[in-house]
Amino acid sequence: MTLDTSLSFARYLEAKRTVDDRALNARVWDRLSAELSVRAGSLDRPLQVLEIGGGVGTMVERLRYGSMLERCTYVLLDSDPDLIDSAQNRLFQNGSPEIEFVVADAFAYLENEGRDRPWDLIVANAVLDLTDLRTSIPALLQALEPGGLLYASINYDGMTTFAPAIDPELDARIERLYNAAMHSPLPDGTIPAGSHAGRELIPVIRASRGDVLEAGSSDWVVYSDRHGYHGDEEYFLRHILGFVEETLNGHPEIDHATLSDWLATRQWQIRTGELVYIAHQLDVLARPQQPE
Ligand SMILES: C[S@@+](CC[C@H](N)C(=O)[O-])C[C@H]1O[C@@H](n2cnc3c(N)ncnc32)[C@H](O)[C@@H]1O
Repeated sequence: MTLDTSLSFARYLEAKRTVDDRALNARVWDRLSAELSVRAGSLDRPLQVLEIGGGVGTMVERLRYGSMLERCTYVLLDSDPDLIDSAQNRLFQNGSPEIEFVVADAFAYLENEGRDRPWDLIVANAVLDLTDLRTSIPALLQALEPGGLLYASINYDGMTTFAPAIDPELDARIERLYNAAMHSPLPDGTIPAGSHAGRELIPVIRASRGDVLEAGSSDWVVYSDRHGYHGDEEYFLRHILGFVEETLNGHPEIDHATLSDWLATRQWQIRTGELVYIAHQLDVLARPQQPE
């Protein structure tokens, strides 16, 4: 197999929307809704919401659909200008002109332009695994107003399963190498949480003077029914295989032909609707500790 360069990350994020919709933990979501409604009622100004790593803007649509953003200023931030362009096009088409779009590194933004804004809610969906939690979590908690909320959802926790099995030893080796690759150092030398993000999140929040209000699992489970895969999830799956290929191509612990055959079989399983994909993840709602 050769890398499919036609795959679009923006389309992958749009296709991921229905996968996330099913996965997001309902208890954590309901608690977020309840806390936001109390907070909105206690303020004489609109809620100030910052979403970091917001991609093409699917979370803002979800929050709005859940009536969580009645009176609010929403900053949708991502470091990738192409994704912010896509988000702008999509959300304007869907009638959301009042969102502020920012292209920036989230943590640089919070130290500069975003520093003095009274953030009531910071949203981070499927992004904290790309950061070192020991620095990102304190920065996010410190940026919040007293009583503000951190909604950290879809935090990968190191279990990726493709079923049915092809060869259990090979499947397990591919999962292990794929997870390990997520811990390669970032440009600033820090190590991203990667495949440990879910399990590390609660201890790091506590160590960073945060209180966990609610937590629960938010696993992705992608499968077909008699109508095929839901929405654009066939594309989502092809993109996931693209990540595996991109990550493991040329890896010293797996030869090219073996990886190629494995990917070709998985692609075939997508075409026939046989492939089931599961990834284990956690959602957490937290806030900075209040003084006693
Ligand atoms: C897996 S995508 C998730 C996008 C979106 N939250 C979603 O769930 O559809 C991770 C996003 O985080 C962005 N990102 C990663 N590190 C970032 C940082 N330090 N500051 C801002 N954006 C970041 C990437 O550009 C990417 O769009």
